[in-house]
Amino acid sequence: MRQPFRTHVLVCTQEKPDRTPCCAANGGRQVIEKLQAEIDRAGRSSDVLVTACGCLGLCERGPNVIVYPEGRWYTRLQPADVPAFVRDGLLDGRPSAEREDPDPGTIRAEVNEHRAKYQRAMAARGAAGVLPEDLDVLVRGFQPSRTVLTAIELDVFTALGQGSDAGATSADVASRTSASPHGMEALLNALVSLGLLLKKDGRYRNAPAAETFLRAGAPHDARAALKHTVQLWDRWGTLTECVRQGGPVAHLDMAERGTDWTEPFIAAMHRHATFRAPVVVGALDLAGVRRVLDVGGGSGAYAAAFARARQDLTATVFDLPSVTPLTRRYLDTSGVGDRVHTVNGDLRTDAYGRDFDLVLASAICHMLGPDENVALFRKIRAALAPGGRVVVHDFVLDDDKAGPRSGALFALNMLVGTLHGSSYSAEEYCAFLAQAGFEGARTVPLPGPTDLVVAARPA
Ligand SMILES: C[S@@+](CC[C@H](N)C(=O)[O-])C[C@H]1O[C@@H](n2cnc3c(N)ncnc32)[C@H](O)[C@@H]1O
Ligand code: FES
Repeated sequence: MRQPFRTHVLVCTQEKPDRTPCCAANGGRQVIEKLQAEIDRAGRSSDVLVTACGCLGLCERGPNVIVYPEGRWYTRLQPADVPAFVRDGLLDGRPSAEREDPDPGTIRAEVNEHRAKYQRAMAARGAAGVLPEDLDVLVRGFQPSRTVLTAIELDVFTALGQGSDAGATSADVASRTSASPHGMEALLNALVSLGLLLKKDGRYRNAPAAETFLRAGAPHDARAALKHTVQLWDRWGTLTECVRQGGPVAHLDMAERGTDWTEPFIAAMHRHATFRAPVVVGALDLAGVRRVLDVGGGSGAYAAAFARARQDLTATVFDLPSVTPLTRRYLDTSGVGDRVHTVNGDLRTDAYGRDFDLVLASAICHMLGPDENVALFRKIRAALAPGGRVVVHDFVLDDDKAGPRSGALFALNMLVGTLHGSSYSAEEYCAFLAQAGFEGARTVPLPGPTDLVVAARPA
């Protein structure tokens, strides 16, 4: 047998509809996390592989685990059992002692019965014309999203974080957030069902994800950035009309938007850019690059990443006057702010400067229509030294423009929010760049939802 790993552990993490027994509801994910931690601790992660799997057909007995190559099934493995499970057998390929798992015959009979029951249920559902579960979840997808956005808007997680470890009642939270007790109780219960809050004896507490990301003073407080998603809700509510008329129902240019919009927007860009910028910069050959221009550079996170990559490099962030004071604020805490300058300007009408070795347009082209992109690239070409490169960082669609999903959905985000913006394919980017006088355009795929398109000004 070709066996790349000494041991392969499959853990069922299948989710099922409300009130249907499943491994996800019984702690399958926590079992995986605990297994991985114990195996890492034992220094065996290079020869013991742990992966999640779908339903194994023993749902009432979850979380269920299979260990290969032995092929032994374990049932009702709880996170608390994992240290002993790993120590007393898993690492040596011995069946774990002192377990009361069903014998293989019982397992086989239960799994076969489960499969037959599932097929009967699906057939009955289809005959009755009930929406398939995945379609139903897709259609109602806005409900969990709106629940979390409202909690962020009302700052519920901060209100809960202020309390003692014993948590707070819904009446406490309602009073701290100036909301109705009746409305707050329904909101908090829904947040418990979504796994963002914990509830015990009528009192609520933040679950770990809320405690880490969603309250004031949290280690990775993401509220400022997530307020941008709250703002997007209003725009997406107009999608039907936008599709009818081919553009936004109400549009304000970036320069006309107030600080209530601009600050969360730039915070959202910054949060994303902080971990994306090293990936982008790491994918580029920076030999000989001394002067970088970041057009529409937002918080300056990309320009700062270039400056960090080379000590002899200076960068310029070109953005609107309503944004550059925010850019400066972010740069002042970046550690390389002395080598990153800001320039005020409108990328549609103003010139960008001269003799840059590299110009980055990150998340800019999707705001613009095809002709506007060709105009942007012409101005970038004028700002480059001969042989200099333009780097586009954006969603890059497949040739049929129907995927990847993140880029296809982002085209709608631009439809509701910009006059002519969209997501474009690699083929379209290459055509825009060729029209603007660039040569050698090529895509540089990145891990994650966005890619690079790089081209050169002829030498
Ligand atoms: C989607 S954000 C991208 C920010 C940054 N490049 C990044 O990837 O994080 C678009 C940026 O373009 C800037 N912008 C929008 N319209 C502009 C214009 N007319 N002139 C200059 N900058 C503009 C915005 O202020 C914002 O910083
Ligand atoms: S959900 Fe895990 S075995 Fe069915």
